[in-house]
Amino acid sequence: MRVDGSITIAGDKSITHRALMLAAMARGASELTGPLAAQDTRSTARVLRQLGARVGPLGRGRGLRILGQAWHPPVGALHCGNSGTTARLMVGLLAGKAIQARLTGDASLKRRPMARVIEPLEAMGATFSSRAGRLPVAVRSGVKRGLTWESSVASAQVKTALLFAAMTGNLPLAFTEPWRSRDHTERLFAALGIPLDIFERGVMFTPRAAVELDAFNLEIPGDVSSAAFPLGAAVLATAGALVIRGVGVNPTRTGVLDVLARMGAPVVLENERVAGAEPVADLVARPAALRGVTVTPDEVPRLVDEIPLLAVLASRATGESVFQEVGELRVKESDRLALIADNLRAVGGDAEVQGDHLVVRGGERPPVGRVETAGDHRLAMAFAVLGTVAGADITLSESRSPGVSFPGFFDMLREIEA
Ligand code: S3P
Repeated sequence: MRVDGSITIAGDKSITHRALMLAAMARGASELTGPLAAQDTRSTARVLRQLGARVGPLGRGRGLRILGQAWHPPVGALHCGNSGTTARLMVGLLAGKAIQARLTGDASLKRRPMARVIEPLEAMGATFSSRAGRLPVAVRSGVKRGLTWESSVASAQVKTALLFAAMTGNLPLAFTEPWRSRDHTERLFAALGIPLDIFERGVMFTPRAAVELDAFNLEIPGDVSSAAFPLGAAVLATAGALVIRGVGVNPTRTGVLDVLARMGAPVVLENERVAGAEPVADLVARPAALRGVTVTPDEVPRLVDEIPLLAVLASRATGESVFQEVGELRVKESDRLALIADNLRAVGGDAEVQGDHLVVRGGERPPVGRVETAGDHRLAMAFAVLGTVAGADITLSESRSPGVSFPGFFDMLREIEA
């Protein structure tokens, strides 16, 4: 396949969720430029409307206006759809504001652990009812005291849920995690003038007076986690070059670019600039002969969502690749650890799970077979990218899930191949 062209990528999902939530609490009308209009961010918008915020329609290629309000208890359950970020961050906000509500989600989200946010919030004095730490979760009462918490997982969702609870509850928080997770919340706090101390592996929030948020305008960069898929298609192509414009290149998110470089596929950053609180660049990717790679545990938080794509690239590389300590993949939108390995084997590849490691051995045979996505957007997109190699014949069990984070994904793939 030959790739060609210059594309833009939809807005960053993590930043869109956070900006929506903060704007929904702020005094006055906020404007977001370039928010992600996809199923996951629509879930956040819907939940915020149920709590009283006025959130305009989230449409592709459009800005978004949000009128913040004092939140009221919702009528009916807050349905978070497929979005773990919506569920975990909202639990933090509702506990911080002591608003009673019941949160639920789709079948995938109901399987994912909520205990990682419920436990520390309980230590802050909030109360919940849930079935074994999973959705549906009811917030019964709010936070009452500050917290020092050492998280056993590197998770920006946990960090943000606790920061949101501490900020809205006007309570101190000292949070550490094993490796630094994405820092979009910290950057937004700085941009909005919310005082926060930031350390190598943690944050400390020490309230002086209650935080009063004013409305804000924010430009949201393209999502590097979405850009990873066309980057992968360009690397697997046989000729041409692809430019992806306006992609967020926050260093806590760009592990995928480092690993691509080690695999022999350096991505060139052009036109580097700053948008909102985030660094942005145009990315230029070209076809490359790939070699196997070792991804170490400290790198995982910087590329956790890109492992499905990196694993399919590893299946086309020479030699063995090892993704070390990637047990967190078991509790993503699907059991990605098992499904990446199963699906690579299902299309004729060589992959296995060894404890918490994922091992992929590369080969040259065209991938042929049926892939079970389990409704997981990133599995569907990763294997669709693998399906672009010469001679491939891959059938996906479904093709709707990319709408969770990347509406128009298949059109984009056709466009860059053309
Ligand atoms: C996210 C954090 C990550 C990531 C998810 C989005 C966020 O999850 O996988 O897609 O917006 O904070 P964890 O916090 O569970 O690592």
